[in-house]
Amino acid sequence: MDTQKQFQSKIKTIEWVDNYSRMVDQTVIPYEYKFVNITNGEDMYDAIKTMIVRGAPAIGIAGAHGVVLFAQALAKEIPSVSDFKSELIKKAQYMKTSRPTAVNLMWACEKQIEIIKKSESDIRGIVNELKENAIRLENEDIEINKKIGDYGSQVVPKGATILTHCNAGALATVGYGTALGVVRSAYAKDNTIQVFADETRPRQQGARITTFELTMDGIPVTLITDGMCSYFMKKGMIDMVVVGADRIASNGDTANKIGTYTVAISAKYHNVPFYIAAPLSTIDTSIKSGDEIPIEERSHEEVTHINGKRICAEGVKVINPGFDVTPHELITGIITEKGILKPDYNKSIAEAFGI
Ligand code: MRU
Repeated sequence: MDTQKQFQSKIKTIEWVDNYSRMVDQTVIPYEYKFVNITNGEDMYDAIKTMIVRGAPAIGIAGAHGVVLFAQALAKEIPSVSDFKSELIKKAQYMKTSRPTAVNLMWACEKQIEIIKKSESDIRGIVNELKENAIRLENEDIEINKKIGDYGSQVVPKGATILTHCNAGALATVGYGTALGVVRSAYAKDNTIQVFADETRPRQQGARITTFELTMDGIPVTLITDGMCSYFMKKGMIDMVVVGADRIASNGDTANKIGTYTVAISAKYHNVPFYIAAPLSTIDTSIKSGDEIPIEERSHEEVTHINGKRICAEGVKVINPGFDVTPHELITGIITEKGILKPDYNKSIAEAFGI
């Protein structure tokens, strides 16, 4: 693996500082780039739900931080270790419910629950162990993304135009990004590559966040609207697609931001390679197929309004699923920190997990 050339990105989306969590407020990008400090568990629940922090790996870390915040508060109220542990486990379970689709959230909260259950320390010791674990997960996230970037860059053709959907970048992780981690590593080796970013309605993560972070890092990016991808593929202007994931089933079916499935169908039709870039923590080996992935239904106002302004007839019916599932047969490969998994995914995923 070529680890020689790595792109240096300055973005750190979420970080534990002393006794609170500090994160980039993604609801105000691209107008503002500001940080918010989250100092209690309830506020963390709301930060995840309202998407101040978003993107599967980032909300995983936010969940882990949230458990530490709840632990700090309960430590002041509950003297008995066993009562403290059982109350805290309830809070950790509750934190998992802040968003339903991205499995990294459940994965990270479960990591904290394991510590709570296994720890033989006093209450102060447990809080410290949870804090240390959250910081470890934070640091590991960046290292994992760099590995994903290195593996992924090996399949990026020279001078490629890479289409991406939503934001699977530094701002969806602790730093560096998954799909945009592939872009960063590829760009470090070949600065003639470029990105086409889908706008990604309804919340416009592509327009607002992907163009913002790539521009900030000086990587060439062209914004297109969601309906344009087939047009550019037909013209031969897209060499590959790389997107992130919120949950991958054992057979490779992948949930990602709504609209990803449409891109994958178009890529298959036009013979454009379609890759998922995600850490192993996004793979849910407890489910057999994408049919079992819960899809978040979001506020209708995300569809009826843009920047607080109504864009449709008043009272019109709306449906707003936040994610769709791309069937495994449309996926060329799943780029992970352990290498690029190829079909048959039931086999390659089981091998990656050693099961
Ligand atoms: O609703 P969001 O913005 O949290 O959805 C984000 C995505 O769908 C990303 O593509 C996915 O979480 C991967 S992030 C590395």
